Amino acid sequence: MSGPESLKDRKYPAKQHARNVLSQLKKKNPSKATEAKFFISGEVLEGYKYCDQTKPFRQDRYFFYLSGCNIPGAHVLYDSEKDHLTLYLPDVDKEDIMWSGLPLSLEDAAKKYDVDEVKYASDINLNSKAFTTDNNLKSQFLIEQDEDFFFALDEARAFKDEFEIELMKHAAKITDNCHYAVMSAIPIETNETHIHAEFMYHALRQGSKNQSYDPICCSGESCSTLHYVKNDEEITPDKRSILIDAGAEWDCYASDVTRCFPINGEWSKEHLEIYNLVLKMQTEAYKLIKPGANWEDIHLETHKVLIQEFIKLGIFKKEFSVDEIFDAKVSARFYPHGLGHMLGMDTHDTAGFANYSDSNELSRYLRIRRKLEPSMVVTNEPGCYFSPFLLEETLQNPIKSKYINKSVLDKYWYVGGVRIEDDVLITKDGYEIFTKITKDPEEISKIVKAGLDKGEKGFHNVV
Ligand code: GLY
Ligand code: MN
Ligand code: MN
Repeated sequence: MSGPESLKDRKYPAKQHARNVLSQLKKKNPSKATEAKFFISGEVLEGYKYCDQTKPFRQDRYFFYLSGCNIPGAHVLYDSEKDHLTLYLPDVDKEDIMWSGLPLSLEDAAKKYDVDEVKYASDINLNSKAFTTDNNLKSQFLIEQDEDFFFALDEARAFKDEFEIELMKHAAKITDNCHYAVMSAIPIETNETHIHAEFMYHALRQGSKNQSYDPICCSGESCSTLHYVKNDEEITPDKRSILIDAGAEWDCYASDVTRCFPINGEWSKEHLEIYNLVLKMQTEAYKLIKPGANWEDIHLETHKVLIQEFIKLGIFKKEFSVDEIFDAKVSARFYPHGLGHMLGMDTHDTAGFANYSDSNELSRYLRIRRKLEPSMVVTNEPGCYFSPFLLEETLQNPIKSKYINKSVLDKYWYVGGVRIEDDVLITKDGYEIFTKITKDPEEISKIVKAGLDKGEKGFHNVV
């Protein structure tokens, strides 16, 4: 299935990517950039133990960035001095043609990929001068294991070019349609597995064969498990809430979207209150998202929004101020993850500089610890959860529990959790949101109810 119309007859810009990495390497370690040669091997098809089946193939993202090639067992070499990019395809295994069909020829690969030359892997001569690290030969052969090269690769990947942005927008569009299908297919969703199936079916129908990550399909209290992938509980009417976090992939580029809705289209009081609170966190974050803004500050601001709204709802006691509760870090376990992460070929993409040993529990799991810059793509995904396991410590700690109205909190456990997640490009002046599936609670309610009215059985042909 063809990709975005805007990329028709264009090649993935591998050569420019090699230059991008070189320019990042020059900034990081100029001496290493002199006459540097980058060499990266792609992933190979790996077999399962004691079995002739292979594991699902997922291309190495660094290799893809420098080649645009999704073939297992290939390699790429960039000679910066000559500005020459060579792709090495795996040698032809004649025995395998019967099973797998004819491989791409050198000529067709040269037409398809943005490289200067295509050869076979057996042409790589590991003893040649090009592959020596001997400084006397003034030849620098860098592989991913080199710290500076790795840093340069990560940094280059953090800034998306127009081609990558088109791929990501396409993945986002597919994902929007899938989320719409899930929302409107409630009559056939009596188990979390059905949500999973509905999403995957529509992704595949639109040509997206891989998910960016395992879909997270929760109902009721399981909405409080951040990366819940069990996806197999019955959706009984007493459960009220659904959370689906799923994203289709396009040409190795990810999307990552979360939507929440009531299972019968009618928001319960507490579910809607938490939904509106999270929506406010996201809206407030958007007000601060722009180049130069420090992501940590925006993240902490969203904690303050949560605290403020919890005080209004009575979950936090009204006699305390937002700042007092913020300083006591009482919100940490209600909103245990970060506001968002870098997004690209990996769902949690490169160059975010997370610090998981941060002593401040409010930002320990924040995956971006840097300022925003144009061309970065990030997620804006605040959340609010009621997890008995996570909150046990908070409730047992008198320093923290004194801020909490337990009797009010007890009314919210059944909601499980709410997260609202969108994919956002940082632009010169602000931002652009890739994902457009509605998050307006009234509109969501209408979509769910319209599905109920249809009462259809079987998959919805939304796309
Ligand atoms: N889907 C994983 C995440 O939102 O980070
Ligand atoms: Mn995410
Ligand atoms: Mn997600």
